[in-house]
Amino acid sequence: MSRTSDVLVVGGGIIGLVTAWRAAQRGLATALVDPEPGGGAARVAAGMLAAVTELHYGEQTLLGLNLASARRYPEFAAELTGASGEDLGYRRCGTLAVALDADDRALLRELHSLQRASGLESEWLSGRECRRLEPMLAPGVRGGLRVDGDHQVDPRRLARALVVACERAGVVFHRIWAERLEVVGDRAAGVVATDGTVFTAGQVVLAGGSLSGRLAGVPEEVLPPVRPVKGQVVRLTVPRPYAPFLSRTVRAVVRGSQVYLVPRENGELVVGATSEELGWDTTVTAGGVYQLLRDAHDLVPGITELPFTETRAGLRPGSPDNAPLLGPTALPGLLLATGHYRNGVLLTPVTGDVLAHVLTTGELPDEARPFSPQRFSAARTEQPV
Ligand code: GLY
Repeated sequence: MSRTSDVLVVGGGIIGLVTAWRAAQRGLATALVDPEPGGGAARVAAGMLAAVTELHYGEQTLLGLNLASARRYPEFAAELTGASGEDLGYRRCGTLAVALDADDRALLRELHSLQRASGLESEWLSGRECRRLEPMLAPGVRGGLRVDGDHQVDPRRLARALVVACERAGVVFHRIWAERLEVVGDRAAGVVATDGTVFTAGQVVLAGGSLSGRLAGVPEEVLPPVRPVKGQVVRLTVPRPYAPFLSRTVRAVVRGSQVYLVPRENGELVVGATSEELGWDTTVTAGGVYQLLRDAHDLVPGITELPFTETRAGLRPGSPDNAPLLGPTALPGLLLATGHYRNGVLLTPVTGDVLAHVLTTGELPDEARPFSPQRFSAARTEQPV
């Protein structure tokens, strides 16, 4: 059996969903194949919109895209809430990155210099000023960076809202795994599902997160170079009536590892995240949970009083340069929207806009040109000298 659409999105995480929603809004007959739309890494992610506090050396090009997406969030959240009737838990609460010892403080000073050199808003605070803002912080905090522009959203609500918005926009969901890309002549023409059903389409968007490189039938030269990077996350709850606990996201590098505490308005407190190169393993380990709670406790000792709600591990789709792969591949009819690594939630609005543009016009908008998947195909076909 064959079912046809203009666009077929492979993968129903937030990136696949936003692509399908925006494509359908532009009048394209759109289908999405995924056994469980709304699942994926968003189920684990904390939802920090941290363009400024997660800035890294060598990622200034990515910063431009991150900032473009952060700027779109207020309008995007309002539009998606209107389209779905779902509150996304979008919260403009700001972020405080703190240092616990002299080494951490040196690291944070470096980050502050990079932020200022990049024209970003970030204010250095003494330890006392940090604690005045967030009284639950440990007395030993040595200083910090106040970044009011780094916000948060609840990724589970975001995913739910996108599923509803897609349904209302007419996206057809095929709730099954895609097994193989169909290539007819020199074009991607659809996918074959695990039960043998063929879904054909004029354009296929591969948006499978960390699984994007695993679809059979994708020619080697266009296979996305995406790898899984495991993140373990713990969820706690601040009991009602909410005592003042944290009013914003608090984060630090403790003993060389990132830890962040993301407080939601509904009382959930998300503590994340490990970063582990362990292939497809999604085991929650005692060591991972211990590390997160130990580091979070160093920052905010009062967390030990909170009810423990959940632990989970997810897989970030890492790419060789930590930036996403957006747009057409060298195989006509096959596009990518993957490799978002640490920034999938942040990059959701801009990814939807970029993919909708390229699906309707055939052209990547200027802001997305540095993120063309073809930057990797070029490297692969270069001959060694
Ligand atoms: N952006 C947060 C993380 O990847 O852990």
